[in-house]
Amino acid sequence: MPAEKIRVLIVDDIAETRENLRKLLSFAPDIEVVGTAATGEEGVQMARELVPHVVIMDINLPGMDGITATEQIAREVPTTQIIILSVQGETGYMRRAMAAGARDFLVKPPSGDELMATIRRVYEIGQVQAARIAPAPTVTAPGAVGRPAVRHGQLIVVFSPKGGAGCTTIAVNLAVALQTRLGMSQKVAIMDGSFQFGDVGVMLNLQPARTIADLAVRVEELDSDLLTSVLTPHASGIKALLAPPHPEAADAVIGADGGMTESSRRIGIILDGLLREFDLVVVDTWSLLNELTLTFMDRADLILLVITPLIPDIKDARHFLDLADRLGYPREKLGLVINQADRKTGLRLDQIERALIPALAHIPYDERAGIIAANRGLPIATEEASKPIGQAFVQLAAGVLERLSELRKTEEEEEAVSVEVSRRLLGRALGI
Ligand SMILES: Nc1ncnc2c1ncn2[C@@H]1O[C@H](COP(=O)(O)OP(=O)(O)O)[C@@H](O)[C@H]1O
Ligand SMILES: [Mg+2]
Repeated sequence: MPAEKIRVLIVDDIAETRENLRKLLSFAPDIEVVGTAATGEEGVQMARELVPHVVIMDINLPGMDGITATEQIAREVPTTQIIILSVQGETGYMRRAMAAGARDFLVKPPSGDELMATIRRVYEIGQVQAARIAPAPTVTAPGAVGRPAVRHGQLIVVFSPKGGAGCTTIAVNLAVALQTRLGMSQKVAIMDGSFQFGDVGVMLNLQPARTIADLAVRVEELDSDLLTSVLTPHASGIKALLAPPHPEAADAVIGADGGMTESSRRIGIILDGLLREFDLVVVDTWSLLNELTLTFMDRADLILLVITPLIPDIKDARHFLDLADRLGYPREKLGLVINQADRKTGLRLDQIERALIPALAHIPYDERAGIIAANRGLPIATEEASKPIGQAFVQLAAGVLERLSELRKTEEEEEAVSVEVSRRLLGRALGI
């Protein structure tokens, strides 16, 4: 539970709805309704004055409608998160509301659990966002943020906002497919960024002698030898930095000592080490957007967003893209992977991609391959190379390499421009 109460403003023209929402929320000890408004204008005014964490906004309001009010609040009180309350069938409005800056939506009448869970979730997003946009004036330890000075490799972070969408499957098979494609002249590593419940070791059938927990406590002495000693080699040629076998051992990485900032610093040093040794590093994350996940993402050259073709996944991916915008990540840094893309969900892939971003690859569903991969630890990318799912990983690897090479080219061009500018400035200073 957060130390402070989550401050909520309710905007709805019907007094009974306002009262019902207030009653539902009175059962949540961590939530406080700080105000209610009956019109859009009043809602905007109160949001300005009260700066609530969360606004519950009705769509249909007399006068200024909920979408316009959402737009104004999102602009004027950017720290406030807005949840749209709509009746069934208002999907067209809903899309506009999301575009106007709403963070989530609920269908009327929401259940108490649903309402509270949504409020807590958007509050969390707001907290993460606020911490990133206006960082506290603390001294940043070396290695905690930004790009490392000596950097050789490129970093790919695989993330899925929904557990079970196939994040680990994509990360593991991408690493294997990259290694297969590049041959042994290039070095590929995978890191399990899901420290407590990591599955990378299981999916690769590896029993690690050492894990990230052994490394995290010794980051200060990290060098090439120490790093090599904690990596587990896989038959495909990739090297894996695995999560500890017991969740408790994850304390060494995300331990209470020093908190998140200290953990982020350690992760930063470990990533620097990996990027000095390897050409490509793939990180599997878990579906929680916390400080650690963002540490990986900040440093990533490419973030792969994994979804399945279902509405909740798309909604969460939309939120993630909004957050990525607010964090200032350029669009080229983001790639979409639609997993289980051939599932008949009633949603067309081109529509999904239009609502989000174009996909780098579509991975089909292959039940047998999935079971073999999960139970026997045989990567789909090599075991099923001739099947459509294996081919899809080949395509994904190709798409990723192409994007990474474009990114590197842009980076080099930017560097060349800045060298040229400094040379000219120097020339002018010296009068030549
Ligand atoms: N395209 C696919 N075809 C068949 N099974 C899949 C596919 N993608 C994922 N799976 C299976 O779904 C389960 C969850 O996948 P996983 O990668 O662990 O998801 P996440 O890391 O997002 O929680 C695993 O058992 C995996 O083998
Ligand atoms: Mg996983």
